[in-house]
Amino acid sequence: MNAQDIEQSLVLIKPDALKNSLTGYVLSTLSEFHTGLRFAGAKIVHVSPMLASEHYAEHRGKFFFPSLIDYIQGRLHYAEEPWKRRVIAIVYQGPNAVGKLRALSGPTDPHKARKEQPGCIRSLGTVETIRDRDGKVLGERMDNLIHASADAEAAEREIKLWFRPSDIPPAMHPYPTETSTSHYYYKDGKLCDTFALGRICVLATGDLGWASDLKALAQHLRGDPAGTSLESVVAKYLINEHQEP
Ligand code: GTP
Ligand code: MG
Repeated sequence: MNAQDIEQSLVLIKPDALKNSLTGYVLSTLSEFHTGLRFAGAKIVHVSPMLASEHYAEHRGKFFFPSLIDYIQGRLHYAEEPWKRRVIAIVYQGPNAVGKLRALSGPTDPHKARKEQPGCIRSLGTVETIRDRDGKVLGERMDNLIHASADAEAAEREIKLWFRPSDIPPAMHPYPTETSTSHYYYKDGKLCDTFALGRICVLATGDLGWASDLKALAQHLRGDPAGTSLESVVAKYLINEHQEP
């Protein structure tokens, strides 16, 4: 297989798509028959605040960031039903995976999607008003049903953020992997190499991790500067471990 054939992209079917029973429609639209893309990985994820804010890190500080985090966590569409707060995370693989999935998703803003690209997935989305606690209008929120990686660099960051190597068949691994030669435990923003009650084992000796994760974990453990935040590495190992209150 050449490099073009193994191009991958992350798709998230967001909580508004689940709530409105559009999952089947999205999966059909993106099916191998229509896109030439294959499933490389898929999982149902209860999105933690850590995973949400790492996924949308580029939007930290913007007025819509808090509502975006609530939205991707399912807090808005399943306010009274926390057990239904999920997204479906899928890795697709195949020629021009990023470009094809972005094109089928359509523009970020559902109004723009309806105007400029009727028929795209996001043309079925909605735009909601964001208000503060006193009811003052802060702006708008775009409930646009689906996420698709913006480019190859974003795809790598996002696939490594949501998926561990063992979630993807070995022959479809898009990025280098390595076997861990240490134990890594996480608790309250800190990493250590010994177990104590409440510390969660992120990777154990002999476990397979993304090579870039193992490098970053070793740097964080030593206290050396690392190119990535600790949270961006550990978030995926905590997926579905806990139900947030
Ligand atoms: P994603 O696939 O969700 O990442 O969307 P995108 O790549 O088309 O857009 P981008 O990454 O720039 O923004 C991520 C999400 O933030 C969008 O899906 C929107 O919900 C929201 N968003 C982005 N830009 C704006 C904006 O200017 N105003 C508002 N209200 N929301 C925005
Ligand atoms: Mg984006």
